Amino acid sequence: MGFCLSLIGRSISSFCGCTILLLFLLSCSCFTSTEAYDALDPNGNITIKWDIMSWTPDGYVAVVTMYNFQQYRHIQAPGWSLQWTWAKKEVIWSMLGGQTTEQGDCSRFKGNVPHCCKKDPVVVDLLPGTPYNQQIANCCKGGVVSSWVQDPANAASSFQVSVGSAGTTNKTVRVPKNFTLKAPGPGYTCGPAKIVKPSRFVSQDGRRVTQALMTWNVTCTYSQFLSQKTPTCCVSLSSFYNDTIVPCPTCTCGCQNNITQPGSCVEEDSPYLASVVSGSGKNSYTPLVQCTKHMCPIRVHWHVKLSYKEYWRVKVTITNFNYRMNYTQWNLVVQHPNFDNLTQIFSFNYKSLTPYAAISKF
Ligand SMILES: *[C@@H]1O[C@H](CO)[C@@H](O)[C@H](O)[C@H]1NC(C)=O
Ligand SMILES: *[C@@H]1O[C@H](CO)[C@@H](O)[C@H](O)[C@H]1NC(C)=O
Ligand SMILES: *[C@@H]1O[C@H](CO)[C@@H](O)[C@H](O)[C@H]1NC(C)=O
Ligand SMILES: *[C@@H]1O[C@H](CO)[C@@H](O)[C@H](O)[C@H]1NC(C)=O
Ligand SMILES: *[C@@H]1O[C@H](CO)[C@@H](O)[C@H](O)[C@H]1NC(C)=O
Ligand SMILES: *[C@@H]1O[C@H](CO)[C@@H](O)[C@H](O)[C@H]1NC(C)=O
Ligand SMILES: *[C@@H]1O[C@H](CO)[C@@H](O)[C@H](O)[C@H]1NC(C)=O
Ligand SMILES: *[C@@H]1O[C@H](CO)[C@@H](O)[C@H](O)[C@H]1NC(C)=O
Repeated sequence: MGFCLSLIGRSISSFCGCTILLLFLLSCSCFTSTEAYDALDPNGNITIKWDIMSWTPDGYVAVVTMYNFQQYRHIQAPGWSLQWTWAKKEVIWSMLGGQTTEQGDCSRFKGNVPHCCKKDPVVVDLLPGTPYNQQIANCCKGGVVSSWVQDPANAASSFQVSVGSAGTTNKTVRVPKNFTLKAPGPGYTCGPAKIVKPSRFVSQDGRRVTQALMTWNVTCTYSQFLSQKTPTCCVSLSSFYNDTIVPCPTCTCGCQNNITQPGSCVEEDSPYLASVVSGSGKNSYTPLVQCTKHMCPIRVHWHVKLSYKEYWRVKVTITNFNYRMNYTQWNLVVQHPNFDNLTQIFSFNYKSLTPYAAISKF
């Protein structure tokens, strides 16, 4: 069969909306590449822009904005975290719209204590419902960012940092180094910060343009290989003209191996399951899958219902086998040679997007 599918996390608003975003592409390349880019979205990247908005007596105030320029890969809960290493002895006096996860050792400061004194701070977005006086535009969504195709209006995330013990002119300021973006979990590689032409900002009425005092960009790209060594989904097939179901190949996403890797999967009726789902493993990004032959967290079933010369119709069913994830928003990316002429998409049945839900029908 000349196509393959991959399911990527989450998108759109919620499953009740049931808008399905299908990106139809011609070639096929499922997990065959190990390069640090995504073959389905070769130009996709997340660009992090630092705009210095003002100089202060000992540093500067910058607005940092993350733009998700990826076609379909969004950042889902629990959201992004961004780490960098300061070039000198910079500290963060205060922040809006975001916070560092740790303050670090600020004992060298008397009186005013900075927000963060770490050499390599980790910043996260604030949560929805943050008081207005701690917000800035595009902040406070718990680090959740849409992809560009899905919802450009929500494809950016911002915070403001007030940096001290730093350069106070564009000649003395040093750009931070070693940016690490987790979105969430590993997968992204960030390049060095590059000083670029200062950003320009057009006022809402369009009658005045202001500009940043200095701007630098950092570009981060996603690599499936860095994120996960094995695929995260598999495809099974069936059709109206044949009773045989072609299942996902055995061990597509790993094998059940209780000897070398005890607990690599759990049975549906295991008493252990309740404790895993309710607590302990919540912060883990490693899938905890139901025991199946394929061992994939996600199965996409492709059922050909009709196939005429003029048109064909398929039903796609997506099943979640990962007990650690409730995919509330998601999209399905499909590569197929004749999707050019796709005429209609119907909502489809889905099962078990929450582990215990029965088949739902929309
Ligand atoms: C990042 O993506 C944007 C939008 O596709 C593109 O304009 C830009 O050139 C990309 N940046 C890099 C460094 O690839
Ligand atoms: C720094 O500012 C001066 C003007 O104040 C400008 O001519 C110069 O290009 C700026 N340098 C950088 C690296 O932005
Ligand atoms: C860059 O940051 C990562 C994550 O904190 C760290 O593991 C790595 O050692 C750092 N590399 C350099 C060159 O500082
Ligand atoms: C820097 O990033 C901003 C925001 O994505 C973009 O508009 C700008 O073109 C980038 N500059 C360069 C030189 O890539
Ligand atoms: C149904 O599919 C199976 C497996 O591909 C094949 O062996 C069998 O011959 C097919 N039966 C018919 C009636 O086409
Ligand atoms: C593997 O281990 C899990 C948990 O320890 C258990 O629920 C499952 O039945 C085992 N699977 C096999 C095939 O032995
Ligand atoms: C997924 O949703 C179900 C039902 O709402 C809930 O019981 C379960 O704890 C959730 N699991 C995770 C991992 O969030
Ligand atoms: C798409 O369908 C139209 C008629 O509905 C046909 O003229 C056209 O050639 C088809 N394009 C492709 C790429 O199959």
